[in-house]
Amino acid sequence: MLLPASAARAAAFDLPMAYLESFGPKGQATTPLLWGLIVLSVIVVLVISGLVLFGIWRRRSFDDRLVGHTLPVSRPSGSLGWIYFGLALTTVILAGFAVWTVDVMAEIDEPHGDPRFTIEVSAEQWWWAARYVDADDPSRSFTTANEFHIPVGEPVRILLQSPDVIHSFWVPALSGKTDVIPGQVNETWIQADKAGVYRGQCTEYCGAQHTNMALRMFADTPQDFDRWWADQAAPAEEPEAGTAAVDGQRLFVQRCGACHTVRGTAAKGETAPDLTHLASRTTIAAGMLSNTPGHLAGWIANPQVLKPGNKMPAVELSADELDAIQRYLSTLD
Ligand code: CUA
Repeated sequence: MLLPASAARAAAFDLPMAYLESFGPKGQATTPLLWGLIVLSVIVVLVISGLVLFGIWRRRSFDDRLVGHTLPVSRPSGSLGWIYFGLALTTVILAGFAVWTVDVMAEIDEPHGDPRFTIEVSAEQWWWAARYVDADDPSRSFTTANEFHIPVGEPVRILLQSPDVIHSFWVPALSGKTDVIPGQVNETWIQADKAGVYRGQCTEYCGAQHTNMALRMFADTPQDFDRWWADQAAPAEEPEAGTAAVDGQRLFVQRCGACHTVRGTAAKGETAPDLTHLASRTTIAAGMLSNTPGHLAGWIANPQVLKPGNKMPAVELSADELDAIQRYLSTLD
């Protein structure tokens, strides 16, 4: 059975990108500033539109009165005062927002407590590799892809790097954007104070499939999180003897193992997502498709049709071979 405990999560596949509401100290510091800027922008649009309409109306009645008369050369005095007033008002308001912005940036620069662990994220074309680092016990470190888990109520440090092009890491309900720039490591942190699933997205144009470079951030209770970490750090279980998954494992190692890793097998490729616990994820192809047997088989058979330009080639497989590989991958929970 695929996704044993995740039926409810699968229903959340089409999560919206929420950013007007936030959950956690970093998001909560940023959201009032966002609302402030939205309100200010709306007021500016309304005032300017109103003044333009007023000017049109006033000029029209003025033109009517001009018929048969000559145009006066001089302007009424005192108009310049309005320009000084507008300049002063704009300067004061924008300076106020600049101070507010700098204050928020200072507040969210560092988390309030020391993060217990670090996730080293590599932004790839077009998916996210995530290495969970246990500094005290390296044997508990592991790599996963596209679906992140964090414990509720705790800050987590995130280090961001990219091997080729610029991306940007964004989980709007929890945090602002941090660019991912080749040749340097950018650091940020994230914290959720409410359990749930938060959608994230690459937010810097990075090529053909930029749109399909999503991620999901699961905020788990501390117990669920510790269990998840222990499960992820373990190698994959061997498929049950006598099932199609045994053939699937052999085929997977031969045909897919140069790019993908499944820990505990000879598949040790590092250029594609680590699939050791693929079946524990709710989505595949960086949040593009829900993780169902049909989508998985369709993805393996036609990656370039579903996500043109991505680096996964279509491997020549017979229907039986495809079925066996899909069955094997579905055991990797
Ligand atoms: Cu990666 Cu846009």
